[in-house]
Amino acid sequence: MNVTKDHLSSNPFREGLRLEKTPEPCAVVIFGATGDLTARKLMPALYNLFLERLLPTGFSVVAFARREKTVEQFRTEMREAVSAHSRTQPLQAGVWRAFAEGIFYHRSDFRETEGFVGLGQLLNRIDRERGTCGNRIYYLATPPDCYDDIITQLGLAGLVESPPRVQGQVPDSGPGGDDQTGWSRIIVEKPFGHDLATAHGLNEMLLSVFRENQVYRIDHYLGKETVQNILIFRFGNGIFEPVWNRRYVDHVQITAAENLGVEGRAGYFEPTGTLRDMVQNHLLQLLALVAMEPPASMEASAVRDERLKVFRSLHLPEPEEIAQCSVRGRYSEGSLAGLHVPGYREEPGVAPDSTTETFVAMRLRIDNWRWADVPFFLRSGKRLPKRVTEISIQFKRPPLLLFGEAGRTVEPNILTLRIQPDEGISLKFGAKLPGQSMRLRSVNMDFHYSTSFGVQPPEAYERLLLDCMLGDSTLFTRRDEVEAEWQFVDSVRLGWQDTSTVPLCEYQAGTWGPDESHALIARDARRWRRL
Ligand SMILES: NC(=O)c1ccc[n+]([C@@H]2O[C@H](COP(=O)([O-])OP(=O)(O)OC[C@H]3O[C@@H](n4cnc5c(N)ncnc54)[C@H](OP(=O)(O)O)[C@@H]3O)[C@@H](O)[C@H]2O)c1
Repeated sequence: MNVTKDHLSSNPFREGLRLEKTPEPCAVVIFGATGDLTARKLMPALYNLFLERLLPTGFSVVAFARREKTVEQFRTEMREAVSAHSRTQPLQAGVWRAFAEGIFYHRSDFRETEGFVGLGQLLNRIDRERGTCGNRIYYLATPPDCYDDIITQLGLAGLVESPPRVQGQVPDSGPGGDDQTGWSRIIVEKPFGHDLATAHGLNEMLLSVFRENQVYRIDHYLGKETVQNILIFRFGNGIFEPVWNRRYVDHVQITAAENLGVEGRAGYFEPTGTLRDMVQNHLLQLLALVAMEPPASMEASAVRDERLKVFRSLHLPEPEEIAQCSVRGRYSEGSLAGLHVPGYREEPGVAPDSTTETFVAMRLRIDNWRWADVPFFLRSGKRLPKRVTEISIQFKRPPLLLFGEAGRTVEPNILTLRIQPDEGISLKFGAKLPGQSMRLRSVNMDFHYSTSFGVQPPEAYERLLLDCMLGDSTLFTRRDEVEAEWQFVDSVRLGWQDTSTVPLCEYQAGTWGPDESHALIARDARRWRRL
């Protein structure tokens, strides 16, 4: 099933250099396929790619999990999951039937060697029958404590592509063995480690079996259309980049707010907290895209090099600075949308004496020539008044205010990149109110994705799965990036160990975080945007 220009022309989101290539035939093996991620995200994403005819001929999925079930049972469950969670509705029966023919179920525990031998046999059969040419993507949709077993077993079973052979050399039977033909790649879900040491350990583990260019560390924020648009906006237009620096920018705010609480995922969230769950990956990646220098090209390594430079320029706070530049909070009971909601410690599965943060606010410094002295404020939390993720670039005031009192009522120019929901971009500027007197008011120039393009953007997982099939790792995090992110987060956590200087501040569910968060930004004579 080839992708032609005609297929693409109907969907502006699918246009572009990337799809001049079509993925080669391949199979995706999902480890942990009976879990929540597969049902809610992965299978709907693959179905939608199939529906849009973006998948290669013979594309196949092998679901690997522990529960006993038949292929037919699994296909039926996935049909229900896709009906419930797909962005395109209703499910098209004929398309589903064709897609489902390529779904297989393989039952095994990750610790069973025979299970991986059986997986190899199944993949070989799929190669023969469906022409997948030995090309495989392994997707780790499991709790992180399963990674070790899966990666080791894949290596032992010879299911990983060998390093390229050098002519005249005896074939290397080292990591990965040399049985595998075709390419193999591995996608690793977040959380990638728990701190720098564990992230480093996981990298070492992965790289004992795979090469770095086979590893795709997912941060699904990078797959969102609006996040990718940050680069287009900055480097595809001539007018913004000249003012994108310390000379014109007063400060930057990045907010990722959720109105949900822990939603039955206390087991995951309790040992994690907002700093690790949101800041280490999503917020720092957004920051990097806003702050990075223009890359030499849009090649993966060039873009990742520039993101990395931002992380390396981040000022690592000393423990004695941490109280000045960070706030952590935990929600207490309150009300949201008129409903009473319990406090975090009252949520099912949360310890009554939990010390996990559900809110973080920070002031970051990027020590480079472009951003010296420009504060970057980050905040993220659960049970805030609404679900919204946005970046706002607040510009400096004009050097001289010519309009007396009238001029003072106008807010500075603010450029807002809305990541979700209501994806779009707006620019706030001052305008004269109609009438005889000189009165000014702030107005917005708005771009909304939904109305401008009239099509629904693909889900982040669609883009990322397709990119992995194409071997494009631009939107995935490289080893050095992920370790630099953890280095920053670890320096914050170190400062937080002294709970007398950085206490866990309570905020009522349904408010914009603790008072201390407002005080943090007020110390710099700024305030959080009202969202
Ligand atoms: N869910 C999300 O929305 C989401 C979002 C972002 C990231 N993630 C990440 O994605 C990963 C998967 O999340 P999830 O929510 O899908 O997890 P989950 O619902 O707990 O599913 C875990 C899966 O792993 C399988 N499994 C566990 N131990 C096994 C073993 N020893 N042998 C064979 N199978 C085993 C389970 O099989 P059984 O059912 O047979 O036990 C199940 O299929 C996690 O790393 C999570 O942090 C999830």
